[in-house]
Amino acid sequence: MTSLAKKNLMKDSKEINGFLHDRYERTTYEVPEMLQRSKAFYEWLDTRRTVRDFSDKPIPKAVIEQLLLAASTAPSGAHKQPWTFCVVANPDLKKQIRIEAEKEEYESYHGRMGEEWLQDLAPIGTDWQKPFLEIAPYLIVIFKRIYELDEEQNKQNNYYVNESVGLAAGLLLAAIHEAGLVALTHTPSPMNFLSKILARPANERPFLLIPVGYPAEEVYVPQLTRKKLPDISVFYE
Ligand SMILES: Cc1cc2nc3c(=O)[nH]c(=O)nc-3n(C[C@H](O)[C@H](O)[C@H](O)COP(=O)(O)O)c2cc1C
Repeated sequence: MTSLAKKNLMKDSKEINGFLHDRYERTTYEVPEMLQRSKAFYEWLDTRRTVRDFSDKPIPKAVIEQLLLAASTAPSGAHKQPWTFCVVANPDLKKQIRIEAEKEEYESYHGRMGEEWLQDLAPIGTDWQKPFLEIAPYLIVIFKRIYELDEEQNKQNNYYVNESVGLAAGLLLAAIHEAGLVALTHTPSPMNFLSKILARPANERPFLLIPVGYPAEEVYVPQLTRKKLPDISVFYE
């Protein structure tokens, strides 16, 4: 056993099949408190909205770092954490991203999307113009890492990459909400231009582009209702 293993064992770890495992304990609650907490958490998450009008008020980089750490606690296939968060504050890069995103979105809104898609988007009120890409103080571009390269440049597998990165993105949005900031989940597709502008390696593919910031002074969001429990669930008892 290595000295590190011994040290860890002393802090309530044990070896299982040759690998160290830490004892894991967590607080549990009596049912009334469990219900109250889950209801309160739902009600809090239900106040999250996608915002498309941002203030340019700066956010401390230290906050963004905490948000990324929160996102990176997400579970991932074989704990590969197959994500890279590129944080863009540089105005020239933001401008380039806006120009390329608007080029793609112009094409999408003028032919690529089709009638049904455009009708589905109509209540949301979006169009090809994306000024928020320059206004929001930070653009978090999430890349999925479809494989890794070891020191000899051999490919190493990642697993369930889309599921894993989707979970990390969800936690990121929740963390942004908890910090009192707002975000837009944006997909100006195809998004290959992001790899080029940010000079990402071949094993990374753009996944989501998330502007983050304070909301603009007066913000309106589309009226929506979320599906009710019977519409999203089936219980087998
Ligand atoms: C994968 C994904 C892609 C999205 N892409 C865009 C987008 O490109 N532009 C946009 O304005 N909103 C986009 N949205 C935001 C949705 O329109 C929004 O989540 C939905 O209308 C529900 O609103 P809410 O987030 O306020 O609950 C996207 C959301 C998801 C999950």
